[in-house]
Amino acid sequence: MRGSFLDRVGALPRLGLGVSTEYGARRQDGALDPAALRARAPAYAGFLEVGVEVVKGLDADASAWAAAGWPTTYHFLDVNLDEPEDLEESWSAEARAIAAALRPAWVCGDAGLWHFGARDRGQMLLLPPVLVKASIGPMAAGIRALRAALGLEVLPENPPGSVFLGDMHLLEFFAALAESADTGLLIDCAHLAIYQRVMGFDPLTGFDSLPWERVVELHVAGGSVLTHEGLAMVDDDHGTAVLPDTWVIVEAAIARAQNLRAVVVECERNPLEATLPIFAAVAERLPQGWLAGAGE
Ligand SMILES: [Fe+2]
Repeated sequence: MRGSFLDRVGALPRLGLGVSTEYGARRQDGALDPAALRARAPAYAGFLEVGVEVVKGLDADASAWAAAGWPTTYHFLDVNLDEPEDLEESWSAEARAIAAALRPAWVCGDAGLWHFGARDRGQMLLLPPVLVKASIGPMAAGIRALRAALGLEVLPENPPGSVFLGDMHLLEFFAALAESADTGLLIDCAHLAIYQRVMGFDPLTGFDSLPWERVVELHVAGGSVLTHEGLAMVDDDHGTAVLPDTWVIVEAAIARAQNLRAVVVECERNPLEATLPIFAAVAERLPQGWLAGAGE
């Protein structure tokens, strides 16, 4: 891909509002059926963000969605961006085959540790990166390598976490990562709200350090406050109640992200009717005409 990201971003389509899924998600009782949502409220299911573990491939729902020619994004669930051996040729070839089936607008995924030790079924987890300057170079190299291997933009996402190590603010870290990899970004507003709270910051601390023109996608999700032995923690439960701090972040992000192309409401484990109010609440916060122009 040629030119700087800020030139390339012009070619990325506006996908609008969408939903996420991963292998077998709908087989759980009461889980959201993305195709049913698209039939019921087309503007809320403009695209499907497909969580992909190469070893599992695509399930019937994701395959059917792609076969219908409806828009998708490819959300990886199995790459440690800072480990070059994760992009081994056998993995890359399978990822390319999955991308060929999905024809995603871009690739995205949490920039963290998806596995500890070798990539193996028993070792899958998700930890945030250590927020120090030394983490940036290897991770940026991984983003460039994955972009080249798949021929698609790769947007790193800020991962969830309840403990964060390192001396950089998370937004300062992602700012440096985006510049170094010359890439766009996916900001998960619920993960960011949890980070700010865990660190004792206000919801918008560090906002000015992020190059918002690189933010292409946002995630919005519900959460709940749990108290364990007197310690209040936020559970990123993808429920239907979005916490107030998350809304503050969503609104500020929408106001700044002039190249925004996609917003995912992460609510895959809820019945369809229960999810409609969150979509409506996100839709009313989007700039006028933004949703109407999606999919064109
Ligand atoms: Fe997310």
